Amino acid sequence: MSRSLPLPRQARRDFLKTSLGALPAVLSPPLFAAPPAGGPGKLLGFAGISPSTADELRVPAGYTAQVLLRWGDPVGSPAGLPRFKPNGGNSAAEQALQAGMHCDGMHFFPFQDKSDHGLLVLNHEYTEENLLQADGAGAWNAEKTAKSLHAVGVSVVEVKLERGQWHVQRPSRYARRVHLSTPMRVGGPAAGHALMRTPFDPAGTQVLGTMMNCAQGRTPWGTYLACEENTHAYFSASAPLPPTSANGAALARYGYRAQGYGMPHAAFEPRFDMARAPNEPNRFGWVVEIDPFQPDAVPVKRTALGRMRHEAAGLAVGADRRCAWYLTDDEPFEHLYKFVARDAWSPDKPAANRDLLDHGTLYVARFEPGGKGAWLPLVQGTGPLTAANGFPDQATVLIHARLAATALGATAMDRTEGAAVHPVTREVYIACTNNTARGAPNAKEGANPANPRVANFFGHILRINEMGGDVAGTQFNFGFFALAGNPALSEPNFKGNIKGDAFGSPDNLHVDARGVLWIQTDYPVERGPYAGMGNNQMLAGDPASGEVRRFLTAPRGAEVAGCVLAPDARSLFVNIQHPGEGSTWPDGGVPRSSTVVVRRNDGGVIGT
Ligand code: FEO
Ligand code: CA
Ligand code: CA
Ligand code: CA
Repeated sequence: MSRSLPLPRQARRDFLKTSLGALPAVLSPPLFAAPPAGGPGKLLGFAGISPSTADELRVPAGYTAQVLLRWGDPVGSPAGLPRFKPNGGNSAAEQALQAGMHCDGMHFFPFQDKSDHGLLVLNHEYTEENLLQADGAGAWNAEKTAKSLHAVGVSVVEVKLERGQWHVQRPSRYARRVHLSTPMRVGGPAAGHALMRTPFDPAGTQVLGTMMNCAQGRTPWGTYLACEENTHAYFSASAPLPPTSANGAALARYGYRAQGYGMPHAAFEPRFDMARAPNEPNRFGWVVEIDPFQPDAVPVKRTALGRMRHEAAGLAVGADRRCAWYLTDDEPFEHLYKFVARDAWSPDKPAANRDLLDHGTLYVARFEPGGKGAWLPLVQGTGPLTAANGFPDQATVLIHARLAATALGATAMDRTEGAAVHPVTREVYIACTNNTARGAPNAKEGANPANPRVANFFGHILRINEMGGDVAGTQFNFGFFALAGNPALSEPNFKGNIKGDAFGSPDNLHVDARGVLWIQTDYPVERGPYAGMGNNQMLAGDPASGEVRRFLTAPRGAEVAGCVLAPDARSLFVNIQHPGEGSTWPDGGVPRSSTVVVRRNDGGVIGT
């Protein structure tokens, strides 16, 4: 092992020497801690709460929610701890040391197997310039561009539980911001490919930053996976695009358009001008691996996992330590993917895991009638994935994964968002948030076996079981955890079949160590058929019985985003994204997306 390469295990040893004294040397977090005792037959034991339209966050009786980290709070970097100033008062340099806006996906990485001390890693999906900048989106300039780029990406914060209260450790050697100007490396088959080269990076191997990081994933070796979703929004073209090429057609499929989407960044950041850098869009829409335990390690865009509007990367670990990630692509009629790593992960040899995500097979799902399905490999040279069809090499298959998936006959889905895997049964849960266009006149198609409702306002949650429990297999069974809906409405298409409390548009999903399926929603509150359902919410589901019980309601205008429990299931971290529409949450002033931690007042296991 070269001294110049990152040394995850050594770094964790160093940390423990300096911060915790002498502790055993096996420091990689275990995949899952032993399930905390909740009592037999008591998966859900709390008293569910009512829908709410209040501008506050509510949790069940006997629980307390504490705001832990707001947009603009210092993350704890040793480089500085700038305080939040409202009305756009912070500089671009200060924002680079503060939590970004609009927190979304999140994971907790414990030190060793501790449940009271670890690193919380969270995405900041997008900016709202009227809150971020003193004068909003008007009179755009270089400083505002820089601040905006610093307000998205990822935060790493060190958090600790002391006397029943969680704290962000400031300063912390682990505290870090990764944003849209952070240098990153391209890894995997697309690194250096012609479609990845730009005037600013002729080698096609280095990208500045990550953005539109929605949900997330993780690896069993203790790294975080930030997913890049609506990346097209940053791009526009200042002049007619070069003559239409195969790449031009692919850009259209990915939503890129010359007129852009009203974001002003390209004027001061020419890489987002497709007339100047027509391949720059190909360098976004990936899964980015970040080692939170290595604050100096360069994040890596893992191109083997394909390019799409990546939402979530749900991890399944096989009995033989082979790993699969279930990959969602959030756009109506797009597809559901799975990446299977070639090599088993190694708990003993960190170096062997370092580029494990660069080698493996990307598959896409085809759902058949009768609850059966198949994973179709996106491998150049197989089936229609030939040079004659526009796929001359594996890099092109991955960069244009959506086109390859459609060519293979993949199923068109209803906006797949959350992806989570049960730690014991390995059952996979996929949130399809909605697709109101399905079955409409001129729509691409009507219902199909995995998306059974036309005009799907409320979405549904799929359950997938690999044949023989083999995470690397290519055949699966599937069914439904729930068709979401509003029981206040009589139409069967809107009513759904939820056993328990009503919800719509499931987005993020998390399965905790006890096997509770946590569901976070993102629907347009009080509009159309959502009326009467209250603010966005978070519910606990029992995979065995199908019961769903409301656990948390969000303040006004917010959606409930990332969720993760500490290994002992006694602390629940949840992100509240974009409180708005008159909200003053959390402090009675400017609305600030924030991370909240929920504990039981008696310190007990959450949800029992
Ligand atoms: Fe960023 Fe698909 O939600
Ligand atoms: Ca989402
Ligand atoms: Ca959503
Ligand atoms: Ca969202």
